[in-house]
Amino acid sequence: MLQNGRLNRGREAINEMSKRSDDQAFRTPALDETRLLELDAKYSSWGDTVHYLTPPKFFDRSEGSYLYDREGIPYLDLQMWYSAASFGYGHARLNGSLVRQLGRLPQLASQYLHSERLELAAAIGRLNESKFGLQGRVQFNVGGSQAIEDSLKIVRNTTHKNLVFAFMGGYHGRTLGASAISSSYRYRRRFGHFSDRAQFVPFPYCFRCPYDKKREDCGLYCLQQFEKNFETEYHSFWDPQAGESEFSAFYVEPIQGTGGYIIPPPGYFAGLKKILEERHILMVDDEIQMGMYRAGKFWAIENFDVAPDAIVFGKALTNGLNPLSGVWAREELISPDVFPPGSTHSTFASNTLGTAVALEAMRMMQEIDYETITRRKGAYFLAQLKDLQRRHPKVIGDTDGMGLALRLEICREDGHTPDRELTSAMFAEGLKGDLAGAGKPMGLVLDIGGYFKNVFTLAPCFDITEQEIDLAVDLIEQLIRRCAPDRLNA
Ligand SMILES: Cc1ncc(COP(=O)(O)O)c(C=O)c1O
Repeated sequence: MLQNGRLNRGREAINEMSKRSDDQAFRTPALDETRLLELDAKYSSWGDTVHYLTPPKFFDRSEGSYLYDREGIPYLDLQMWYSAASFGYGHARLNGSLVRQLGRLPQLASQYLHSERLELAAAIGRLNESKFGLQGRVQFNVGGSQAIEDSLKIVRNTTHKNLVFAFMGGYHGRTLGASAISSSYRYRRRFGHFSDRAQFVPFPYCFRCPYDKKREDCGLYCLQQFEKNFETEYHSFWDPQAGESEFSAFYVEPIQGTGGYIIPPPGYFAGLKKILEERHILMVDDEIQMGMYRAGKFWAIENFDVAPDAIVFGKALTNGLNPLSGVWAREELISPDVFPPGSTHSTFASNTLGTAVALEAMRMMQEIDYETITRRKGAYFLAQLKDLQRRHPKVIGDTDGMGLALRLEICREDGHTPDRELTSAMFAEGLKGDLAGAGKPMGLVLDIGGYFKNVFTLAPCFDITEQEIDLAVDLIEQLIRRCAPDRLNA
């Protein structure tokens, strides 16, 4: 009884709290931006990505597909927190699951069990059984990079090898282990020696083919080049006598995220998996950015008919609410016999708020046909982007997309040379908040990716409407008109 009374009082307090926060939603915070930037200059580390933009941008409120600045101006968000908030800001059903858990079991040390954690692991395990016909288990963690670290442990533990392949242009996070297998040297340069740095392999980036081939008739030359590495022991990858590679796994993003939403050609991944299987090399699929329907299927790798040995996920699983990440691995790699208690741990791994939201998100994804939704909206958006490219061939060199992962590659007048300056200018212009929206000033939130920092990687909210897609394209066109007025006519 006493417990029930307490529980009810807890729920009432939360209801009251959420009502009050509604009332306060439009309240302007006390300090003005100048004062806050003074605090930032003095007390914040500038080591993260905030200061990629000068001055950095403030936001105050979010809802659906929109962020609102401190003046209440809406910004259509085409990036949704690097695809972490795919289901939309302030999503009532997912927020509700968080609030409910706040009233019931808001905190619990990760060493104890709670039902959502187990139901969630089972939901992911069953999903992968149905998709790949493979039994496996899930290890939870908090952020994407941490789950990558766990996956590296699982790979090393199984294979007793440190070295892995990863793609040029690939990004797996910025903890030390994840940096070692992420391609950018800029992320490693100042942080000492990375002895387990991955062997980086060219990604099939057909618009800028690393081998200067043409997609139409290359015969997947890049794959052939990769396979050649195993022809003789003197290429340093393979001991034919032992039938063993020095490399334990290949870390892949099925569609490169930070690399610029690059979609590989048909047949590439199936071919790669065959090469790896023949050499007993595992495939670890990083779905942190593309998982959960971003690319039109629950896992992006499903688009390529490949069953990976392990899948790493994070971001959208909790729609950007309490973070939760994890790695699913085939039973042989993660069963308690080989990965026993204590193999990994983090205080906030499998936090109860995260598992509650993630479980609700899994249920929602079973009930709602996101495959059809993301494919239909993605096809509509891509068609509009292709039209935009036709109207602005001196600005847009390439557009592509799969599901609601779309790319817009900004180039010089020749349609191929990367135009990093124009991309940055358009990005900054969108954040000024003075574009012409539907009868009111509006901003546009984009994100820049790509090997040359000239790609807008578009990851709109799954609830985006066709009208909003039209608006998005119109806002991008306004940016082109403002930032490249001399390149408007074909
Ligand atoms: C494909 C991929 N892997 C790993 C990460 C790292 O995840 P986190 O930033 O949560 O550590 C990211 C983040 O953007 C990502 O896109």
